[in-house]
Amino acid sequence: MQRSDDRPFTHDELVAAVPDVDALVCLLTDRIDAEVIDAGAGRLKVVSNVAVGFDNIDVAAATARAVAVCNSPGVLDETTADLAFALILAASRLLSEAERDVRAGRWKGWGIDQYLGRDVHGATLGLVGYGRIGRAVARRAEGFDMRVLHHARRDTGSPGYVADLDALVADADVVSLHVPLSDETRHLFDARRLAQMKSTAVLVNTSRGPIVDEEALAVALEAGTVFAAGLDVYEHEPAVHPRLLAAPRTVLLPHVGSASVATRTRMARVASEGVRAVLAGERPANLVT
Ligand code: DGY
Repeated sequence: MQRSDDRPFTHDELVAAVPDVDALVCLLTDRIDAEVIDAGAGRLKVVSNVAVGFDNIDVAAATARAVAVCNSPGVLDETTADLAFALILAASRLLSEAERDVRAGRWKGWGIDQYLGRDVHGATLGLVGYGRIGRAVARRAEGFDMRVLHHARRDTGSPGYVADLDALVADADVVSLHVPLSDETRHLFDARRLAQMKSTAVLVNTSRGPIVDEEALAVALEAGTVFAAGLDVYEHEPAVHPRLLAAPRTVLLPHVGSASVATRTRMARVASEGVRAVLAGERPANLVT
């Protein structure tokens, strides 16, 4: 069951195809819900996601039917951190707006008050989530002389830990999100939390779109209560909220956090290795269940 183009399988196509397979290697665009897993009952043994996030898979349904679930952790951290840092720089320095003007012929020459962004060097970075990707962003921030704070559900014991998320958000000049999507993190950044941010602060999201209430963010950007945003992920991909598309000081990328040749190759290998291990009766290192 494979396709030469990059179009995701429809739900109906997945349900129709899964009874004939022992393993599914899937992408974050494939919704592997209970119906798909049920359709594979009796034969399907493993679902392996070519992504570290696995919110597209109903893990509880898979577990209930003794289907193993794997992902591709550990191989995309540095590439995703590079992208997060690119967004920190691009959003803080208003690079999208500036480039758009150059391309459209709207730039009429240097001006002393044009495209005035916020300095990244020396600023305070607030990391929400301090797993492998969050820590990789922290390492990059050190090179920019940033003060780095982080919040996680449990005390990390590392310098810069802030137990109260609202306190971190209120203190940061840049807030960068690195938490998985779950019931607890959905709309973690809603209107109330966005209102805790400094009006000079920048929000960057390279984790999962639904962690941010897009409408609330667009309103905050329009009102200037959040200075700028850099987003790689969206609530309803590939749709982007029309107010975000129109919002000022916003850098919007098409979910390319892990998109380098080397990293995507490694992700596919790790996901495939999980399948090989399960089918060989071994316990894969990348098992999430
Ligand atoms: C992941 O692995 O979860 C990333 O979003 C893929 O780019």
